[in-house]
Amino acid sequence: MAIPDNVREEVHLLPSILSADFSRLGEQVGCVMEAGAQIIHVDVMDGHFVPNITVGPLVVAALASEVHGRGGYFSVHLMIEHPEDYIKAFVEAGADAVAVHAEACCQVYHALESIRELGASPGLALNPGSDIGRLRDVAESIDHVLVMTVNPGFGGQGMIQAALDRIPTLRNMMPRSVAIEVDGGVKLDNVREVVDKGVNWVVAGSAVFGAQDPAAAVQELQRVMAG
Ligand code: DX5
Ligand code: ZN
Repeated sequence: MAIPDNVREEVHLLPSILSADFSRLGEQVGCVMEAGAQIIHVDVMDGHFVPNITVGPLVVAALASEVHGRGGYFSVHLMIEHPEDYIKAFVEAGADAVAVHAEACCQVYHALESIRELGASPGLALNPGSDIGRLRDVAESIDHVLVMTVNPGFGGQGMIQAALDRIPTLRNMMPRSVAIEVDGGVKLDNVREVVDKGVNWVVAGSAVFGAQDPAAAVQELQRVMAG
């Protein structure tokens, strides 16, 4: 289902399962949700749009009871070519928010409309080098923007500062009801700056699941974000 307005406007930490232990994925997702995370970020990669391959709708469906059963949501990040062809399958599997990449989409409005029609929250994702002006045109058609602060494809990279520095301009450009999701290179030592720039959905993969204790990492990141 679509993500409610209040959740779109609040500040949230979104653990990215890309860095989780896939041999016990359900348990790890349950653990970060019990620690206070409400939105789980799912990275879908096809080996074409990005050089890596990850998961499909089956994995979203397998995790749906862990997430929805705790009142949580999925933010699905499609790093795939022809995303239009897979939107329905992901929403039927349980995706609540779905972001397609502007760089991968020939018919952006068509893709965004079909996400909305299927009952989920549409989002547009942009690579670090892409023009954020593209987001102005679709402001009325989206519930969130996903700004990459690393080159998409892999977890554990360092943040591209110039990509983060565009956020205040973007925040002024978009209505309050549009969440700004930042993805890539978020760590304990920069998460405060990320929030201060105007980001309200903060994705963290390796900073959560690369930690010895992912639940403690969620709480520590949330504490610094709130501080
Ligand atoms: C990268 C993915 C990210 C990734 C972030 O292409 O979109 O969601 O999981 O990982 P970290 O937080 O480790 O940079
Ligand atoms: Zn992502």
